[in-house]
Amino acid sequence: MSRTLRLMWLPIILGLLACSTGTPRSPALEAHLTREPFGTTPTGEPVELLTLTNAHGMELRVMTFGGIIVSLKVPDRTGTLGDVVLGYDSLAGYLRSSPYFGAIVGRYGNRIARGRFALHGTEYQLATNNGPNHLHGGIRGFDKVVWGVEPFQGDSGIGVRLTHTSPDGDEGYPGALQASVTYTLTDRNELILDYQATTDRATPINLTQHSYFNLAGSGDILGHELTLSAERFTPVDSTLIPTGEIASVAGTPFDFRTPHAIGERIGADEEQLRRGGGYDHNFVLTRSGPGLALAARLVDSVSGRTLEIRTTEPGIQFYSGNFLDGSITGKGGVAYRRRTGLCLETQHFPDSPNQRVFPSTILEPGQTYRSQTVWTFGVWPSK
Ligand code: GLA
Repeated sequence: MSRTLRLMWLPIILGLLACSTGTPRSPALEAHLTREPFGTTPTGEPVELLTLTNAHGMELRVMTFGGIIVSLKVPDRTGTLGDVVLGYDSLAGYLRSSPYFGAIVGRYGNRIARGRFALHGTEYQLATNNGPNHLHGGIRGFDKVVWGVEPFQGDSGIGVRLTHTSPDGDEGYPGALQASVTYTLTDRNELILDYQATTDRATPINLTQHSYFNLAGSGDILGHELTLSAERFTPVDSTLIPTGEIASVAGTPFDFRTPHAIGERIGADEEQLRRGGGYDHNFVLTRSGPGLALAARLVDSVSGRTLEIRTTEPGIQFYSGNFLDGSITGKGGVAYRRRTGLCLETQHFPDSPNQRVFPSTILEPGQTYRSQTVWTFGVWPSK
């Protein structure tokens, strides 16, 4: 066989070899980033859409409005890319109404009871935008502002650094807060989420990313298999505020220490599931020390897509999309029925400013809030 012929076969052989080892194929593409206008807010602020593609074709689309992940395309076991997050095709949908699809939520992600807390002897009243309670930063939280954006390309990958200044008194919170959230897409099919913030007055802070995942790209998530590194969770009252108890998951439908299909026990006759309308609870992560720890693993055995979540946070909110009721028509004209997507929101615990036994969420002047979460996409079975 002539030398030229042998050389022609080489990339094919290498490609096959890479396939058989399960590692992403040798980079076929150069990681790249594009940006384009994506509409204007009602107050006339221009919004941009940035598209990041890694060397294997994994694609993230993020907009400056709310730092929202509009789409996230990852390969299935055949290498076919599919969008694994819920959302809208255009800005208009997000402006009309969105249950936080793909948004950065803050200043305080999750609930604060009655929108009230005391800090250094002062009582603060926040907006109560979720029944009697405060949720996800209030009426105009971080999901509804236009963030500044700086794209970058470095050794760690390709990414965008989003910045936002939340003024003193914003939604009732004390202190002017400088926040940044960096999304880095790596060539290991990971999305790294880095959160940072400083403040000039003491304030609660709890930032997270509110994407709704469906690894199959369609249908519901009841067949997805979930594992959570949590021996305990925080039970809630009828308004989804933690009672203060930290309860064991043993013998309950909240035990995901080994893989379980989400739909297996979701309909169980159990008070906490009734209160949540399904799963909508904070799980206390089992960790052996600071740094990144495995929090969750999600598998869709049909497509073969997998998602592993590692975080520096002490908790994760598992929300099984209970409030989706078909009234929202999302991307591609799909009606989002109940359980079309699930959220895995890494976080400090809900209502921590009012719960002494929970890890503190108070940021003081001179301190820097830092938090990291990594989403790693893969396929199952990993060859
Ligand atoms: C979080 C909450 C849920 C719900 C969603 C948004 O996940 O825990 O109760 O409010 O946000 O709809």
